[in-house]
Amino acid sequence: MLFTKNRVFLWNGGTIAGFRPQEARNSSSKNSREKPARIAYLLTVNGRASRQVKRLISVLYHPSHFFYIHVDARQDYMYREMLGIEKKCTTKNIRVARGIGLRHASIWGGASLLKTLLSSANEILAQDHNWDFLVNLSESDFPVKSNARLTEFLTLNKGMNFVKSHGREVQRFITKQGLDKSFVECEARMWRIGDRKLPTGIQIDGGSDWVALSRDFVEYVANPVPDPLISGLLEVFRYTLLPAESFFHTALRNSRFCDTYIDNNLHVTNWKRKLGCKCQYRAIVDWCGCSPNDFKSEDFGRIKSTADRNLFFARKFEPTIDQRIIDRTEEWIYPSKSNKTQKLKGYDAYWQSVYHYADLSPMADDTLLTISDSLARLTYKNLKIEDYIFSQIKLLEATAYFRSNRFIGILIRCNANTNDLESLESSTFQNEFPEQVESLISLKQNITITKSWKNRIRNLAVSTDYDQKEQTFRNLVAAMSVLSTPVLAYELVPGFTPLRNLSVLWVDPYGHLADMGQLQMEEATLFGHIKPQLGEPLVIGTWHVLLMADSDLVAKLNFLVVPLAYWRNQKITLRKAKELHNGSLAPYQVNENINHWWTNYLSTSTINSSTTEQRIGLELERWIDALVSEYYEIKNTCWTVEMPEVRGKLEKCSETSWSSLSPDYKADIRNLC
Ligand code: UDX
Repeated sequence: MLFTKNRVFLWNGGTIAGFRPQEARNSSSKNSREKPARIAYLLTVNGRASRQVKRLISVLYHPSHFFYIHVDARQDYMYREMLGIEKKCTTKNIRVARGIGLRHASIWGGASLLKTLLSSANEILAQDHNWDFLVNLSESDFPVKSNARLTEFLTLNKGMNFVKSHGREVQRFITKQGLDKSFVECEARMWRIGDRKLPTGIQIDGGSDWVALSRDFVEYVANPVPDPLISGLLEVFRYTLLPAESFFHTALRNSRFCDTYIDNNLHVTNWKRKLGCKCQYRAIVDWCGCSPNDFKSEDFGRIKSTADRNLFFARKFEPTIDQRIIDRTEEWIYPSKSNKTQKLKGYDAYWQSVYHYADLSPMADDTLLTISDSLARLTYKNLKIEDYIFSQIKLLEATAYFRSNRFIGILIRCNANTNDLESLESSTFQNEFPEQVESLISLKQNITITKSWKNRIRNLAVSTDYDQKEQTFRNLVAAMSVLSTPVLAYELVPGFTPLRNLSVLWVDPYGHLADMGQLQMEEATLFGHIKPQLGEPLVIGTWHVLLMADSDLVAKLNFLVVPLAYWRNQKITLRKAKELHNGSLAPYQVNENINHWWTNYLSTSTINSSTTEQRIGLELERWIDALVSEYYEIKNTCWTVEMPEVRGKLEKCSETSWSSLSPDYKADIRNLC
């Protein structure tokens, strides 16, 4: 059957009832040598892991393949980085989607993701005429077999279509997937608007949206003048959550391509549903979606088990979570290449941008901007170059720096004007400092765990953006300000005998108890988190989290809440500063019984409310710098172009092992094409 908007038509080509997927071929009886399959990779990428995307392209690259990169329309940084690759690639087989109609804000699970895939497929068809398969991948995919093995396999299977089906009872799949609900994408959100009836006579199928499609089938589904089946499906899938997970499967099964269906998306996916199905996309979709977990070093066995199977890619990988597994996977598929590269400088490091001054979208986080800006000022102050005064210090970039699979610190790249003292006295011209410096900054230690608990508690941290799926904070530098929602995350030592429940006290900078929680040791999993109820805006200064076992102090953490120097990426106004920097008017609501011993750690003093906090401009900056310098430590600074003032004092950035400008072979695409 076929359908258009409201009507259902009979379709009479191909067998739908009694459908059976085909088997992939692993050998050929043909004597003639088939031309090797050519792949058009469609990379849909978002976020800031541009170095990982460069690494992915490097490892997949072959001059006969074509790469089309779609960057989420809201991601300026990634887009610029990808344009950089396109520019360097003189062979022109790496192209970036640009312009209206070709770049979309492809939200998670959104109808826009299918739109992206189809408009990109069309563009790929127009730009390159000789490919055999379209393979879509994201920033978190990585191959688990060599290019040669993938090409060999696809050569044997030309004309076939690889999609992974759900493998359940169809009605159950439809309900779980929300296919019987209408969704409308508006303002980067999928709104659920009600129930719907799916068209009759159509075999609904779906599963994964990572596919390898034959050129013929892509020409059919992406045709700008689609046949009634495709135009009908497009109408339905325009109002469907996660449309790319079902559209291709359904189009395949109900069209003349049904006997080219192979139930394999060539991927191994790291599903850990207990962790991955935490409704983490509620802000974006009216649904509880699931995501696969990142592979970690301990999962390498799982990667290796794909050796003899028709699996060529794995997902997901994030170097900020675990780069070692990516290294091991690459070493495994390309052993001879890895012997050389392993020894290269920077091999064990990873850099990921967190801020770039040229970005307009997405807006920078005001707290991160406030702290990074302050760290730029502190960097120049720390240089202590005699006879020079630095002014107009400009923050250029902030980068998260990892080494040996650990977050080491934040890199702050900045520049400034210089005035020598003489010219300052005579008020002559300031000297623009074209040179920049970069600093490596780490968080100071702010946790104490008592001796008897050290063998039970492995880690404690307070920050924001706790990722329940990966059980880690995404706010790596613990940048918190008056509007932040801090969370305490803990990691316990496996196998220890639970002692007692712990009380968690949240104490504000005045020593007042702001909230209280419980850590139930009997129920505690190895990883967990506790979210307090602290009224906004938070009081500025050093907060304490006390873990108490009855009257005994078990552990103490300090965390910093800074005032905001920026509001919506503009310097904060006096009015806004007054509104945000004077704490909450509502008193704390702590209802539980308070152990009288705890009063030793608390204050009963009242706050003098007659003074209104209204620092702004330089005064506000000085205040922020004083707070920030208590929590962050400048470990090293380097220069980018030789500055006579620092000769002999600092290293050149490109020669260090840590600077964002030091060699990064893995993301080096200079000799790619
Ligand atoms: C899982 C499934 O693997 C996938 O099949 C399904 O579509 C969504 O759920 P998940 O890991 O959660 O995937 O999604 P992710 O890889 O983060 O995103 C899917 C694609 O959308 C990627 O290509 C990603 O770059 C893109 N995306 C995501 C955007 O373009 N913008 C966003 O804001 C989020």
